[in-house]
This record gives sequence, structure tokens and C-alpha cells, in this order.
Amino acid sequence: MTYSNNLNFCCLLLPFLATFQALVAGEPKVPCFFIFGDSLVDNGNNINRNTTAKVNYLPYGIDFPAGPTGRFNNGRNIADIIAELLGFDKYIAPFANATTQDILRGVNYGSGGCGILDQTGQLFGDVINFNEQLSNHEVVISRMAELLGSESVAKGHLSKCIYSVGMGNNDYLANYLPQYHSATTPQTPQQFASLLIAQYSKQLRRLYDDGARKVAVFALGELGCIPQQLAAYGASNGSSCVETSNNVVQRFNENLKILIHDLNSNLADAEFVYTKDTSSDESYGNISNLIEPCCEVSAVDGQCVAGGAACSNRDAYMFWDSFHPTEAANLISAKIAYSYMSPLFADSLAIW
Ligand SMILES: *[C@@H]1O[C@H](CO)[C@@H](O)[C@H](O)[C@H]1NC(C)=O
Ligand SMILES: *[C@@H]1O[C@H](CO)[C@@H](O)[C@H](O)[C@H]1NC(C)=O
Ligand SMILES: *[C@@H]1O[C@H](CO)[C@@H](O)[C@H](O)[C@H]1NC(C)=O
Ligand SMILES: *[C@@H]1O[C@H](CO)[C@@H](O)[C@H](O)[C@H]1NC(C)=O
Repeated sequence: MTYSNNLNFCCLLLPFLATFQALVAGEPKVPCFFIFGDSLVDNGNNINRNTTAKVNYLPYGIDFPAGPTGRFNNGRNIADIIAELLGFDKYIAPFANATTQDILRGVNYGSGGCGILDQTGQLFGDVINFNEQLSNHEVVISRMAELLGSESVAKGHLSKCIYSVGMGNNDYLANYLPQYHSATTPQTPQQFASLLIAQYSKQLRRLYDDGARKVAVFALGELGCIPQQLAAYGASNGSSCVETSNNVVQRFNENLKILIHDLNSNLADAEFVYTKDTSSDESYGNISNLIEPCCEVSAVDGQCVAGGAACSNRDAYMFWDSFHPTEAANLISAKIAYSYMSPLFADSLAIW
């Protein structure tokens, strides 16, 4: 082999080798992942708080290696699975006990029962609403600045992270849909969507001011299809869902798309991505039961009864309790969400 052949070998293949080694060695696609949200992502932040939105008991966690951790289903939640898809070898730590070393790779601020509006979470006691999650993030940033030596180094690190934000489920489920169905609602669906989006806009700008640049913002799912809605209002004619609820929630998503577009137009270097975790042509795989909860649910709050029964064929169920998807459903949702999020890390493959 001549020297020049050798050189070719070196220079053509090294970039590929570097990428390949990064993936094989388990280097994540991004250095850090910060998660804001509600019970769909909460990984234990509520368990030492005075709230009814707390599920650190069996059968929750029945399929999770560590058992019940405060996650609101039988196994991994969507944030756990997205972290795996991003290549993290450990789940992102909950804010409640993230260590100084943990915070460099991100923090999960999620809190079951929380909302965009502060009054939403109050219905469940002491949960962490989006405003307070942002305050917690600012505490983490101070710790990070201390660790890295300065605020500007911390900001540089924070600009490379991916952020996921999923809020609004409880603003609708606990704070609006019941009134809407009572027909004495003081606000039209559009008025309520506008109120939420105005608040959300301030909150997402605050996250940007805190150094976030790559942000996946989750659309709301079809809340009219969850067991709690079906039990409360009954399926609409010709549908397996409560279509009035779906239509109300759809207003939020339409307004959210406009907000994302505005944020991208007005904030320098911002990359906000409208992210969905469902698709119209999705395959439900082995999931055949799309309407019944897998666990025995409480008639009072729709959560699994502590120590109660759970179905044995959990991979065949879409819903774990009256509100939350099973791990099997989360696996499908996370892959769809991940593909929506991919513009946020496509340009940062292996080298950061
Ligand atoms: C904090 O970490 C410990 C040990 O890793 C774990 O047992 C505990 O449940 C965690 N607390 C929360 C709130 O997640
Ligand atoms: C927990 O919250 C409930 C309802 O808000 C309140 O009545 C109770 O005193 C609180 N308990 C503690 C220990 O703070
Ligand atoms: C469903 O259809 C039945 C029969 O056509 C009708 O009486 C009922 O009012 C309809 N319910 C709704 C919610 O539209
Ligand atoms: C469906 O179930 C079969 C049999 O348990 C399993 O081999 C397969 O991987 C499952 N498919 C999906 C998409 O989960």
C-alpha cells in the first residue's frame, strides 16, 4: 500500500468512522435534553409533594425495572423513550433530585396535574405549573453557571440542548372541558385557546431568554378519545370519541401552529418545532383495545386503584388508566414525535 493510498483511506473514512464510533459508543445526538410537561413526562417530581396527582404505587410501574417511580403508566413514558432514541444511556433525572453532574445532560421538570395556567394545577394541590418549572430551570442554570465557571459558558451549553415542552392537557381536562360541557361556560373555545396561547407565548419566550434555541413544542392529542372523556360524556354518534371535546382542543393546536411560526420569525436563532405524537396513518401495531383502561380505575379520580388489578396483555391496550397511555402506546407515539423533532438535531450529528 502506497503512502497516498493510505492518505486517501485516512481522509475519506475518518469522518465516517468518527460518526460511527460516536453512535457505537453511545454518545447521544445532542449533549443535553430538558423536559417540561405534565403527567405524560413526569418521572417522579410529584412523589414528595402534597398532591392528588401522585402515583408512586403499584400497579403503576409494573413493567418498569425500578417499579413505581411516580411515572403515570406501567413502564416508560414518552420522555424516557425519546431520551433513548436520542442515544442517552440513562433517563434524564427528575428536577426533584437531579445532581450537579446530572444537570449538564438535562433535567426533567415534568409534574403531573400541571398546566399553562397557574390555577389549573391548584385543582390537584401542590403541583409544579409551567411558570414554576421555568423558575426551577433558572435555579438549574445558576448551578450550571457555577459549575462551568460563568453564565456565558452555561448559555453556550444551553444553546446546544434540545428542549421538549408539552403543556395544556390539564388546562383542558380539569379546567375547561367540564365547564364547557355544563353549557354555562363563560368562555368560548376560541377565547379559552387564546387565553392559553397568550400565556404560553410568554412562557416560551422566557425559555428562549434562558438560552433555549432548539425547542420541540407538543400539540395536544385527541383528548376526546381518552377513557375519562368517554365515561363522562359518551362517544359521539358515528365515532369512538367525544368529538365536541376533540373540536375544542383542536382550536388550541391551530393557534399553537401560528405561535410557533411567530416565535421562529421573531426570535433570532430560534428553532421551535411543532411536534405531534400521533399521525393519521399510524399503525397501532399490536394494540387492539383503543378505549378501555388496562388497570382497575378509581371512579373518583380515574387513576389506577392502589394495589388494584391490571390487565395481563398490556401491549394490547392503548390506555393504562383513564388518562394515560400504556408504555406500548408510548413507544409508537415517541417514534412519531422523534421524527417531528428531527430537524432539531439533524445538523448536530456526532459533533458538538
Ligand atoms: C431520587 O433518587 C433516588 C435514588 O436514585 C430514588 O430512589 C428516588 O425515588 C428519587 N426521587 C425522585 C423524586 O425521583
Ligand atoms: C395538603 O393539602 C390539603 C389540600 O390542599 C390540605 O388540606 C392539607 O392540610 C395539606 N397537607 C399538608 C401536610 O400540608
Ligand atoms: C345520536 O343519534 C341519535 C339518533 O339519530 C339522536 O337521537 C341523538 O341525539 C344523537 N346524539 C348526538 C350526541 O348527536
Ligand atoms: C406484536 O406481538 C408479537 C408477538 O408477541 C411480537 O413479536 C411483535 O414484535 C409485536 N409487534 C409490535 C409492533 O410490537
